[in-house]
Amino acid sequence: MSDANPHISGRALGVLISGRGSNLQALVDAVRDGRLDATIAVVISNRADAPGLVRARDAGIDAIAIDHRAFPSREDFERAMIGELRGRGVSLVCLAGFMRLLGRTFLDEFQNAILNIHPSLLPAFPGVDAQRQAWAHGVKVAGVTVHLVTGELDGGPIVAQAAVPVRDDDTPETLAARILIEEHRIYAEAVKTILDGGWTIEGRRFVRG
Ligand code: GAR
Repeated sequence: MSDANPHISGRALGVLISGRGSNLQALVDAVRDGRLDATIAVVISNRADAPGLVRARDAGIDAIAIDHRAFPSREDFERAMIGELRGRGVSLVCLAGFMRLLGRTFLDEFQNAILNIHPSLLPAFPGVDAQRQAWAHGVKVAGVTVHLVTGELDGGPIVAQAAVPVRDDDTPETLAARILIEEHRIYAEAVKTILDGGWTIEGRRFVRG
């Protein structure tokens, strides 16, 4: 058994995005509605044209683009992000459609303090286009997972999941749309779980106290 995360000592979030930002919006709404006692200190996108940056700025949140292509190495890119996050007191990083793999530099800095949302019932269908993978496989139950991020792709301890039944007439798009509704519901809940503490990691199991 390991202790509940000693790295999360505040309630300042950093949200990393690459695109649309609807999960970011769900977090913004949860903070605004008082369902999530946290502040979103900064939103970082690796793409300057990410619509999520506009959502963040519309909500009055500091939002910056850090283009991974501008750096000679992944490590340099990650150090730049770490500087922006730590400079604003961020203690928990939430990946919300952030489509870059994180390396050791970032993972070591935010040990057990990075959450990701993935649109499948992990460990099924890791990687890209998970909803289409699930649909093409013919599963009858799809869903969404929020997990702590480790070096294993979509593989860290699972914090929360929600199931979404697959209908015979679903397309990848209709299935993804219903999964997205559940994503927006459970991400804020999972962030709250992490911030409220009292949890441990046992093996690869996330266990609430
Ligand atoms: C979401 O469906 C999220 O689960 C997925 O990207 C989408 C981002 O949408 N993430 C992954 O597939 C990570 N492997 P959003 O920008 O509207 O939140």
